[in-house]
Amino acid sequence: MKILFLDQSGQIGGAELCLVDIAKPFRDNCLICLFADGPFRKLLEQQKIPVRVLANRSIRVRKQSNLMQGIGSIGVFTPIVAKVAEIAWEYDLIYANTQKALVIGAIASLVARRPLVYHLHDILSAEHFSAANRRLAVTLANRFASLVIANSKATQAAFIEAGGQFDLTEVVYNGFDPAIYQIQTNSLKTKQNIGLEGQFVVGHFSRLSPWKGQHILLEALTRCPDKVTAIFVGDALFGEKRYVEQLHQKVVELGLSKRVQFFGFRGEVAPLMAVCDLIAHTSTAPEPFGRVIVEAMLCGRPVVASAAGGAIELIETGKTGWLVEPGNVEELADAIAICYQHPMLAQIIAQHAQKQARERFHISVMEQKIARLLNLVIDFH
Ligand code: UDP
Ligand code: GLC
Repeated sequence: MKILFLDQSGQIGGAELCLVDIAKPFRDNCLICLFADGPFRKLLEQQKIPVRVLANRSIRVRKQSNLMQGIGSIGVFTPIVAKVAEIAWEYDLIYANTQKALVIGAIASLVARRPLVYHLHDILSAEHFSAANRRLAVTLANRFASLVIANSKATQAAFIEAGGQFDLTEVVYNGFDPAIYQIQTNSLKTKQNIGLEGQFVVGHFSRLSPWKGQHILLEALTRCPDKVTAIFVGDALFGEKRYVEQLHQKVVELGLSKRVQFFGFRGEVAPLMAVCDLIAHTSTAPEPFGRVIVEAMLCGRPVVASAAGGAIELIETGKTGWLVEPGNVEELADAIAICYQHPMLAQIIAQHAQKQARERFHISVMEQKIARLLNLVIDFH
């Protein structure tokens, strides 16, 4: 089976990391076309997955764009659509991994008469997308896609709520190779090296963006004992410079300078997860899936997450982690306090979560489901 994958991003976000895992088994028979250059291209090259960048001018349709702005960018889309359609003749299937990839993939699938699969990594709700963008996504998916893969039941439900057809959808969770999260490093030594010896470390692993809620963790810290410190791993990937400045300002204003460190983007998160006593996920809007939650579990670290979107499907509160109300600083501080005061309990919960995550989110589960679904799409085309 020859697959043409499409992704709009040059940056390494969760959808792109998931795509790396999906494309790997097909690396001898696939091509990933990106609509922007960046570190994602380099990652794919390192992984020996064929990649081609089709645009050097980024397509300016933002998540909150209205219809007119969308139409205004058609001039940028047209040459890419033509290129993708031409390339698609050599492939059995087009696999769109992002919204702009869906727009281009839909038209290309019509021209090249190839089936289209849409992997939906986003919650199509008003919190995340303008009404015009939601309408465009469901209209194109309903009309052109043979299959919509939703990364969680929450994502699937939002797609249907926005007008998407239920019988097009299948839920496939992200898969992970547990070996990558098997912590080899001496975490005590790493803790010493980064000046965190004797501290209770809460880790936050996510791109810096208002809805990822890094500010909520900063506020929660002020309600925790001084020994509780936080590390933030991740960068602003989509131009959220203002938010980054606000975060740094907040650290100073709240008197947290000695209790907070920013590490920027890391190619490998497991070694830093290893130094954490707890990992916090603080999204203020529903998280479509939440890779970091599963990764924390696989590293054997306790995790507290915002109770919305896909996170609810990943954690059973009190059994495999803790769920707290999104944006509720007090509840987050309380969950941190439980782990701080009861490390044995936190460890038992983390071990239970690790055992469950190794099976439930194993890479082979995802690979098998994707292979079966794509074969069905091709057979019925
Ligand atoms: N990540 C990373 N380096 C960092 C911060 C995050 O590799 O410095 C990874 C993280 O481990 C996770 C992904 O980026 O696999 C983010 O995916 P997630 O689903 O949590 O959120 P998204 O950013 O895609 O909404
Ligand atoms: C998107 C979502 C994230 C999800 C990832 C992988 O980036 O924001 O929640 O984990 O895709 O499916």
